[in-house]
Amino acid sequence: MPSRVRIVEVGPRDGLQNEAAIIATADKIALVDRLSATGLQAIEATSFVSPKWVPQLADAAEVFTGIARRDGVAYPVLVPNLHGYTRARAVGATEVAVFTAASDTFNRRNTNAGIDESLERFRPVLAQAAEDGVRVRGYVSTALGCPYQGEVPVGEVVRVARALHAMGCYEISLGDTIGVGTPGKARAMLRAVAGDVPMDALAVHFHDTYGQALANVLACLEEGVAVVDAAVSGTGGCPYAKGASGNLATEDLVYMLHGMGIHTGVDLDALADTGRWLAGLLGRESGSRVTRARATT
Ligand code: HMG
Ligand code: MG
Repeated sequence: MPSRVRIVEVGPRDGLQNEAAIIATADKIALVDRLSATGLQAIEATSFVSPKWVPQLADAAEVFTGIARRDGVAYPVLVPNLHGYTRARAVGATEVAVFTAASDTFNRRNTNAGIDESLERFRPVLAQAAEDGVRVRGYVSTALGCPYQGEVPVGEVVRVARALHAMGCYEISLGDTIGVGTPGKARAMLRAVAGDVPMDALAVHFHDTYGQALANVLACLEEGVAVVDAAVSGTGGCPYAKGASGNLATEDLVYMLHGMGIHTGVDLDALADTGRWLAGLLGRESGSRVTRARATT
């Protein structure tokens, strides 16, 4: 069990990419700035994907230039290809994340490319990033199940994670994109990947569709993972993964970790305030059980 966990806050990207309503650029900037004040060390700020595919984040450049970047906080942005990387660099991004999947069908729906084709798209990104001194994170989506294919062989998760690591990604986030995983499966998948990629280069990313996200995190902490993705107020989903609901809420993750004596550096009160503010902005109840419970006590 790690004594400290690094949380990668993905709400401004994984959360907001899935919202039906248009969110003002100023509100997206305010969200990142509020999160920056909570003690989080990594905040995925936005996404330089095609605005035709994800219109919700078409204002990525304005958001990225509008946020107040704090020393000691990383602000990675999602990029699907060299074009996205160039757009991100033009506004000063110093960390990016590339994303592929363990299911070929899902990857085609999400990025119009098979897995191997997407890996080829990343080569020039990684090469340019190495030259620019930019850190690159990698995602493997559908690591515990695919909305189109169903079961996903663990061997495929291992193969794709290994390829991203070999290409130069400093960290690989293993994503249960549709939230179908359960703790035994999550543990077995992580253990298999850790046979080929060092555990300190791995992160886990759970969606809470079936209420399994925290249980899955706990199983993976027991395996030794020390980086966990989460989204404030439990926002999220993937527009190209039908049935994918919210990410694990960051407030719930922090509550569990602190309760277990695991350090995060995050101020839970400030985070919960931000989550409540975001839920108000989106016009619905917070997706964090901790926040909902605290409101009634
Ligand atoms: P495509 O249509 O095949 O792209 O899309 P293309 O290369 O054929 O280009 C077509 C047009 O798009 C061209 O413009 C390009 O310039 C433009 P035109 O000549 O027609 O005017 N274009 C771009 N514009 C802006 N930024 C770019 C870019 N690239 C091309 N970066 C593409 C392929 C990958 C671009 C598209 O499929 C795409 O953007 N997909 C992203 C989908 C997405 O963002 N999904 C959600 C994120 S993944 C996720 O949520 C899972 C995760 O959270 C982990 C988990 O939960 O497991 C990470
Ligand atoms: Mg996700």
